[in-house]
Amino acid sequence: MTGPVERAAQLRAEIARHNHQYYALDAPLIPDAEYDRLFRELQTLEAAHPEQRTPDSPTQRVGGQVLDGFAPVRHAVPMLSIRTETDISDAGALAFDARVRRELEQPEAQVEYVCELKFDGLAINLRYEQGVLVQAATRGDGETGEDVTQNVRTIHQIPLRLQGCDAPVLEVRGEAYMARSDFERYNEKQRALGLPTLVNPRNGAAGSIRQLDPALAARRPLSFFAYGLGEVQGWPLPDTHNGILDALAAFGVPVCEERAVVRGGPGLVGFHERIAGLRDSLPFDIDGVVYKVNSLALQQRLGFVTREPRWAVAHKFPAEEQLTVVRDIDIQVGRTGKLTPVAKLEPVFVGGTTVSNATLHNEDETRRKDVRIGDTVIVRRAGDVIPEVVGVVLENPLPARSGVDAEQYRRAEGARRAPFDLYARLGGKCPVCGSHIVREEGEVDWRCSGGLVCAAQRKQAILHFAGRRAMDIEGLGDRLVEQLVDGGLIHSLPDLYRLDVATLAGLERMAEKSAQNLVAALEHSKTTTLNRFLYALGIRHVGESTAKDLARHFGRLDAIMQATPEDLLAVPDVGPVVAQSIADSFAEPHNREVVAQLRALGVSWEEHDGLSAVTLPLSGKTFVLTGTLPTLSRDAAKALLEARGAKVAGSVSKRTDFVVAGAEAGSKLDKALQLGVPVLDEQGLMDKLREME
Ligand code: IVH
Repeated sequence: MTGPVERAAQLRAEIARHNHQYYALDAPLIPDAEYDRLFRELQTLEAAHPEQRTPDSPTQRVGGQVLDGFAPVRHAVPMLSIRTETDISDAGALAFDARVRRELEQPEAQVEYVCELKFDGLAINLRYEQGVLVQAATRGDGETGEDVTQNVRTIHQIPLRLQGCDAPVLEVRGEAYMARSDFERYNEKQRALGLPTLVNPRNGAAGSIRQLDPALAARRPLSFFAYGLGEVQGWPLPDTHNGILDALAAFGVPVCEERAVVRGGPGLVGFHERIAGLRDSLPFDIDGVVYKVNSLALQQRLGFVTREPRWAVAHKFPAEEQLTVVRDIDIQVGRTGKLTPVAKLEPVFVGGTTVSNATLHNEDETRRKDVRIGDTVIVRRAGDVIPEVVGVVLENPLPARSGVDAEQYRRAEGARRAPFDLYARLGGKCPVCGSHIVREEGEVDWRCSGGLVCAAQRKQAILHFAGRRAMDIEGLGDRLVEQLVDGGLIHSLPDLYRLDVATLAGLERMAEKSAQNLVAALEHSKTTTLNRFLYALGIRHVGESTAKDLARHFGRLDAIMQATPEDLLAVPDVGPVVAQSIADSFAEPHNREVVAQLRALGVSWEEHDGLSAVTLPLSGKTFVLTGTLPTLSRDAAKALLEARGAKVAGSVSKRTDFVVAGAEAGSKLDKALQLGVPVLDEQGLMDKLREME
């Protein structure tokens, strides 16, 4: 039996180890929810035995370490953490409200709160002096962070100068994050180029902010939301936290619209419920909501407990990562014939649903993660994304944890490997249709070569076509597609639109009413958009964002179907692999026939002339930089311009569109004036960029 002293020491060491993994190495070993549990356990222990609280306990500081490569920044006002509630029920919100009223000695009061989203990114402090952004720093350990000014300057949303505020010092605090669409677009691009992808938007944000090369940081676009202040000098504070957020928004700092001023515990509960329902459809990841007492006077009265304010609490949503056990490893055949190893799991509640299958992606990933049958693994399910196995937990560091069977967390003696080598395992044949399987040079995946002969591929192609983000055919789920394909009612996509109520109603578990609804949904789906239709066709490498780019660029389907790979390369973000895949797909007579039939059956969308040459706002423009700008380094200015498609040249000629000049600009400025090339200062540049957006 471990006593509280040993247990606290054990927990401290363990938490310190995970802090290092998470903050310094960006390589967490356990899910966040698991970390939170350890942290809470230590906090509870220390609360019960205050004499056990050591000055170096992780509860006494905010996790994180300064990395080499960025200058340390000492925060004028420490960047604190907030208490976290993890109840799925209302209890967390109500307990917070009760605590606030108790501390204020106003048990009957209806306290006013601001409810915000808890953004899942990286905390950043922006220091403005006389309204100019002079420094940006990460939180680090809360006392000292890292100077990431260059990278933060590449975030378009962050103003380099506040509008209408020239206070001597105003520090804005908030979260730098990667929007889901930017994350997907980045990964789509990386995959097409055969380069490594990001695990999740949070890691993308952290990696981008800590990128030593600002031009690379600019390639991974981040966004920002302000949620508070640091040091302030010479700016009269509003009376409320919401007043601060409104003022920041008026200064041009991004503040999330999705916030509310509410009264009392029920107000908090209402916000939590509303946001939980919105979570998946938000354009960015959140891991919960944050409640804050609105009045600054009341905040001051409430004060702090060690490192956490008493006036704020984070209320987390169910974790998107959990631990569970692998029961078996199966192989599934996907839409494009891709063979995917899938872990069959002990069902686990994660990301709001029960998950019993999680992808292992491919042979190499399974081998790299060394996932074996019987292993305890971290499963992740975020939003609509397919659940995946993040990694294996090899040992349980804390066997004494209450309510947990320690043995369950160790790799069982002789844990069985499913053969990693898919070819050997399958005898070279597709497990569904028996066609031979192939792995092309440079590819990570094995594929069934059967195409639409393979029932598995046909089913997946139909499900993809019907999906919410594609043709959005409500009611056409796995079960039904299975019956339709296995029953020989559907051979190709157009057959869907040939289904009638009588045929459908004859199927097992299909009532007349559902059959009517499905036919209506099919009819409804016929009116669509070009980008949805393109995405629905399921062309390899054409994800949602590429489909949008194609639709925007070409405007008409015929133009896309006739485009050569060279024509396709003119579309922003379309590389050679994607261009070839699109051209190959439309060169296939079978695919052209599918499109023709779908159109003949009434599938339609609006077309336009397309944007012939327009790509990025500054593409085709050449800039030259000279002299020292007041706030932007040369690299940062270059990154800002290049991110918008401009070319940055080293010398001025007649073909230069703009010269950006700072202090001590020399001969390049003279040359510009001589040739009549327009000259901008830093503010002029920023205005130009804004006007081009
Ligand atoms: S307020 C003194 N508001 O969550 C209060 N934090 O421990 C300071 N976070 O990593 C924090 N969204 O970066 C606050 N709307 C929000 C937030 C938020 C995300 C992060 C923050 C920190 C952690 C709080």
